[in-house]
Amino acid sequence: MAYAKIIKGRTELIDSALEYYLPGEDEYPQAIHRAMRYSVFAGGKRVRPVLVLLTAELFTTDWQRAVPAACALELIHTYSLIHDDLPSMDDDDYRRGRLTAHKVFGEATAILAGDALLTLAFELLADEGKQGHELSRLYWTEVKPALKLQVVYEIARAAGVRGMVAGQVVDLQSEGQKIDPQTLEYINAHKTGALLVASIRVGALLAGCTKEEIEKITRFAEPLGRAFQVVDDVLDVRGDEAKMGKTKGMDQKKEKATYVSLYGLQQANALREQLYWQAVDELQSFGESAANLKELTRFIIFRDH
Ligand code: IPE
Ligand code: IPE
Ligand code: MG
Ligand code: MG
Ligand code: MG
Repeated sequence: MAYAKIIKGRTELIDSALEYYLPGEDEYPQAIHRAMRYSVFAGGKRVRPVLVLLTAELFTTDWQRAVPAACALELIHTYSLIHDDLPSMDDDDYRRGRLTAHKVFGEATAILAGDALLTLAFELLADEGKQGHELSRLYWTEVKPALKLQVVYEIARAAGVRGMVAGQVVDLQSEGQKIDPQTLEYINAHKTGALLVASIRVGALLAGCTKEEIEKITRFAEPLGRAFQVVDDVLDVRGDEAKMGKTKGMDQKKEKATYVSLYGLQQANALREQLYWQAVDELQSFGESAANLKELTRFIIFRDH
């Protein structure tokens, strides 16, 4: 599969960088490090970091400098999943093909592992990168402090109370409610879209893009980010649990506001198709150099897990 070929080297790079950034399992206090690693290395698709890298590659040959930010986004995404699965939130038992973190390590450690992953993301972005592993030395030292600050702002805003957290709040308060289409769009754009859009914008920022280029790539990012949750909602009804590594049918059980509950499966699938063409259309002017990003878009929107 073309997608598998594209992401192989890049996910290996991301995984080895994550390996470097995360404290070792044997480091004291082991419980928290074990819990962080358990969730980070459980076999997620790594869509956000790969989006960072492929977007950077679209604009520069110097794309390795985006590796730390790509890792930061994956750490934040993983934290969001650990917390999303907690009994007080979606109450899920399986994630990434394993028991959820709170099932294995207990709720307190799972909450703290999430906190620690979120904080570690900003720690590595603020790191001067002068010592240590070649990843931070080679890829991060070169980036100017003002650009690093822009990256930190972009990621913080997407993850926080104007982004993912706000979406999660409205997602939870909409359980069992009849919501209107605008509220569903609010939930989606914040809880899921924000981090995906940030991944693409950060890749472009680190590639040294102009304001116009960032605006242009954001027009690609928005339908892609929107489609991501449409597909997640469809898979909750239609997906294969073994492939997805999480329990299906949970949205209905929790009476979640989803594209399927609001519009039905058929319309949700039609929307996914429409969003695919909208996203791909924004890449046309880049020609062949956007081939990998197009392939990733196809994978994301027509994925089965
Ligand atoms: C799942 O994200 C949660 C949503 C935002 C819909 P992914 O589908 O990217 O999960 P992993 O990272 O592959 O486990
Ligand atoms: C998850 O949405 C969004 C975040 C984790 C921020 P869901 O609750 O639908 O994700 P899954 O289905 O549990 O992966
Ligand atoms: Mg949720
Ligand atoms: Mg959930
Ligand atoms: Mg879901």
